[in-house]
Amino acid sequence: MSDSAPAIEVSHLVKTYGGVTAVSDISFTVARGEIVGFLGPNGAGKSTTMRILTGYLPANSGSVRICGIPVATRPGDVKKSIGYMPENNPLPEDMRVSEYLYFRGRLKEVARRQLGPRIDEVLEVCDLKRVRHKIIGQLSKGYRQRVGIAEAILAEPPVIIMDEPTIGLDPHQILIVRDLIASLRGRMTVIISSHILPEIEMTCDRVLIINQGRVVAQGTPADLRREMFGLSTYLLDVAGDPAALPAALAAVDPSLAVSATGEPAADGFRRITVTTARHDELGEALLRGLAGPAFRLRSLHRVEPTLEDVFLAATRRSWDTVAAKPAAQAPAA
Ligand SMILES: Nc1ncnc2c1ncn2[C@@H]1O[C@H](COP(=O)(O)OP(=O)(O)OP(=O)(O)O)[C@@H](O)[C@H]1O
Ligand SMILES: [Mg+2]
Repeated sequence: MSDSAPAIEVSHLVKTYGGVTAVSDISFTVARGEIVGFLGPNGAGKSTTMRILTGYLPANSGSVRICGIPVATRPGDVKKSIGYMPENNPLPEDMRVSEYLYFRGRLKEVARRQLGPRIDEVLEVCDLKRVRHKIIGQLSKGYRQRVGIAEAILAEPPVIIMDEPTIGLDPHQILIVRDLIASLRGRMTVIISSHILPEIEMTCDRVLIINQGRVVAQGTPADLRREMFGLSTYLLDVAGDPAALPAALAAVDPSLAVSATGEPAADGFRRITVTTARHDELGEALLRGLAGPAFRLRSLHRVEPTLEDVFLAATRRSWDTVAAKPAAQAPAA
């Protein structure tokens, strides 16, 4: 294992199932200690990519290195460096929780002496202590899910890959998993796929969005907001002459422009939408600039596109690109 190599390096990965292309050309790098959200619509190729990363599925072409180790030629070594929680994690129905974790810990070569205390630790962080002696087949879906998470972090591998770890969990458990992932920050490298986007925004340093087997956007949520939506938007409830507003805004900052003016309510206030290409906070300057006798300002807030808006825009953009291609190549009529 090379200490200087990135945690994950994926280069031009391609995977087809029969005639179906699941991954067409995926490349990305994840630095040590990063927590990355892996997003994409159903069928985008997330689980397929994760299976290839973990050495459970061979790619048609392209390469993956985990901490510098090539998956294609050394899948056994890669498996030791990764804690993997697969989609629809199959668990042995007839084993007890602690027995299963003991069995997995031994397979992962955790020293016998350390395994007992480590199992206690993961049972604690995954809130599984009460069910440690229960048979897995008798656990509810959420509890099984947590057994999968416990197993993934058990051997404290440098890289954790979890395919929809919070699916089926109740809101308390989602909070527990969020804290758990946050506690791994800096110690382990984590890739999590999920469709719960607020969750991803709270836990991840960076997101990778894939669609139809390709990376369609990547960066911090703030970078992606900027890339997808060039402008920042402020909503103001203002009373006063709307015709005088553009000049007042220009005095605050020349980049500010009125993009929509609502109808006045009975009390004379109307909703004004103001946009700017500046991404730094202009709220305070706006409050000061509009505080004169010409206007009465009742509320002001900045509206940020959510990660969901970013996700929808990025995937829509990639579909539009695909749709536009045949048209661009069509001969002129
Ligand atoms: N074992 C398989 N045999 C044939 N096709 C498959 C197989 N597994 C996946 N696929 C196909 O590969 C594509 C990508 O599937 P994948 O499971 O990687 O998507 P995903 O992004 O994980 O989706 P989801 O959000 O629904 O979990 C889909 O078109 C899927 O039908
Ligand atoms: Mg999947």
